[in-house]
Amino acid sequence: MNYFKPFNSYIELEKMKLNPEGDIIIRKLSDMVNVFQDKEAVKEVLKENPIIYKVYNVQIPEESGHLQHCISIVYPGKIGNEYYMTKGHFHKIKETSEIYLTLKGKGKLVMQTPDQKVRVLDMEEGNISYIPPYWAHRTVNIGDEPLIFFGVYRGDAGHNYGIIEEKGMAVIIIEEGDKTVIKNNLAY
Ligand code: F6R
Ligand code: ZN
Repeated sequence: MNYFKPFNSYIELEKMKLNPEGDIIIRKLSDMVNVFQDKEAVKEVLKENPIIYKVYNVQIPEESGHLQHCISIVYPGKIGNEYYMTKGHFHKIKETSEIYLTLKGKGKLVMQTPDQKVRVLDMEEGNISYIPPYWAHRTVNIGDEPLIFFGVYRGDAGHNYGIIEEKGMAVIIIEEGDKTVIKNNLAY
């Protein structure tokens, strides 16, 4: 038997880095122009094209017996009145779940079933959030520091971005006055 060898990874929270870095995904505004509602604001902010979030993926085989795990960093900021967020996805294998452990910052975890049931959980340091099978998920940074969380999911789960990329999610998280509010997405 050719056993996969155990190993450690280290989260350097202050430097906001995983060590070893693994596979890094960097998403800039230009990678997700359709995600935000305020198209004028998107156009304006695109001139600078900021990084919205980064993911450090530990290198793990995409097989069912393994567990993918990664660190996501969603930077603070807004496009119009909508907070920076991840693209959001269903897993390709829909019945695979995921756990997020929030390490730093303040956010909202927006989840949605294929028949449009919505749940929103708070993400704060120490929260362990369970994303059950079938729920699409997106994270939103509602604070003024980076939102950093650790995620674990089945090795072969895969990602399906298509439907959310086209239609968005049923709710949006925006700032109104100095309050964070959850609103129905009128464009949905
Ligand atoms: C993996 C997972 C997270 C996200 C990451 C970026 O299944 O849920 O690691 O992949 O937070 O978000 P997306 O993938 O929506 O761009
Ligand atoms: Zn996921």
